[in-house]
Amino acid sequence: MYKQDTTLPRQAQIRPGLLEVIAHSLQVINITHSWYNIFAYLLKPINFFVTYIQSIRANQADYLYHKRLAHGENFVCAGGVWMSGFNEIKENLIEPQARAFKLAPSQLDKERLPRSDNGRLLFLLSLSQRGAAGNGDWEAYRAAFEDYITHTEETKLRVNDETTKKLMDKLVADYKKTGLKKEGEFFENNDSGIQDFLLRYLHYVLLGLDPFDDEKMGILNDYHYDSRSAAYYLNILGNALQRFRFTDWPEKLEKVIKVYEESPALSVMEGGQEKYNNMSRKDLAKLTVSIMAIAGLIGPFTLCKIVLGNQPLPEYEGQPTKDIDVVNFWDQINLDDREEVKNYIYECGRLRHPVSNTHKVATEDFTARVGNRDIEFKKGTIVFIPMVLASLDKSVYGEDTFEFNQKRENLCPFSTMFHSFGDQTNGRVCPGKAIAESMVADILINLGKSRREASAMNN
Ligand code: HEM
Repeated sequence: MYKQDTTLPRQAQIRPGLLEVIAHSLQVINITHSWYNIFAYLLKPINFFVTYIQSIRANQADYLYHKRLAHGENFVCAGGVWMSGFNEIKENLIEPQARAFKLAPSQLDKERLPRSDNGRLLFLLSLSQRGAAGNGDWEAYRAAFEDYITHTEETKLRVNDETTKKLMDKLVADYKKTGLKKEGEFFENNDSGIQDFLLRYLHYVLLGLDPFDDEKMGILNDYHYDSRSAAYYLNILGNALQRFRFTDWPEKLEKVIKVYEESPALSVMEGGQEKYNNMSRKDLAKLTVSIMAIAGLIGPFTLCKIVLGNQPLPEYEGQPTKDIDVVNFWDQINLDDREEVKNYIYECGRLRHPVSNTHKVATEDFTARVGNRDIEFKKGTIVFIPMVLASLDKSVYGEDTFEFNQKRENLCPFSTMFHSFGDQTNGRVCPGKAIAESMVADILINLGKSRREASAMNN
């Protein structure tokens, strides 16, 4: 049985409110009670409600930071144990993970996740790795995803070719047309500006689809943006939305799967290869649609909103972070030095991860200190990994942790933004990392230059 080092300080740093203490105790009872605890069963409906509300709020970094202050480094929330110590987060990101049907703290609907015709689950984020009770499916499907989509020679070439340059020119034109602003149409309208760019750019770079084919791009825009494709996979909400709002989701999904299956990247795939556990081309297309819906478009959009100043930094309790205007730093960095641009991206991401947390499933019983108590948790407990809290650790980043400094030490080597610890990974590092990093740097360089030209003309 794993036993956490309980000599480390785990105390709360602020006094939680009464309701918070009650909610925390309820959550602890809920995940630790024995079979014979009738009281715990009676409280299940209330706990279900508490878990649901917390799982929505726990996507926000400032809420997680508050929880750590209020309950200490380990706390119970949204139906799982959160281990927010720097070393625990690091270890959890570089050791094999067992997984459940979770997207950060939100519950996924296992009936809606992509499956092969013989019922095998294809969805990477919910598959366990071999070193943690996995059956080898994650390794096989992940290899196919990299070999045909993210890590091909064609993908690398497309990142810097004439087509992506044209897309970038259009983005710059949209930015100028909408007044180089931090808010408004450039961010909100999904038929132009940043959202339109991301849809066309990523489907071109990853799948080789023609970004100027308006019919195909229309199908993708309609499903991913207008019909909120990510929500399709969520438990409860997915069903409710399909019933009352997006009644034609299944037909739209089929259309997108067909576009992906026939794309230049996937059409060269031979189905039934043993190294990919006999996955078919359609299986890879279904997996890719779910990934683009859940990770491939939302992650980059959120990061772009942060680095372009559209999304303010979180209001961490007692800290001045929300008053930092990152654009002031963007306007100062050397745009001809890609390394400096990359550091700017990582400093923005340190203060606000686009994906604040993930999870693993405990593969053995374990003990963790919560407040002043050592609590035993059973195998199967959800252990949340709040990546963003590792990047806010004063013992690592020093007294100026909550200030913006893109020159700080260990910025990239310690970054947890892409589900790794810098370059160290259990293999689950985001496979889109290199593409996203290069794309966001290009966006900052090109839009940044147009900002400087405009300001030179005004002076
Ligand atoms: C700024 C942009 C992005 C960020 C910050 C980001 C971040 C992340 C994070 C934190 C995870 C781990 C999630 C988890 O396991 O719970 C992840 C997983 C993943 N991301 Fe990204 N991502 C980005 C862009 C992309 C893009 C463009 C793609 C498209 C190919 C992509 C594909 C994936 C896939 C397939 C996984 C699952 C990996 C696995 O479990 O094996 N991501 N990403």
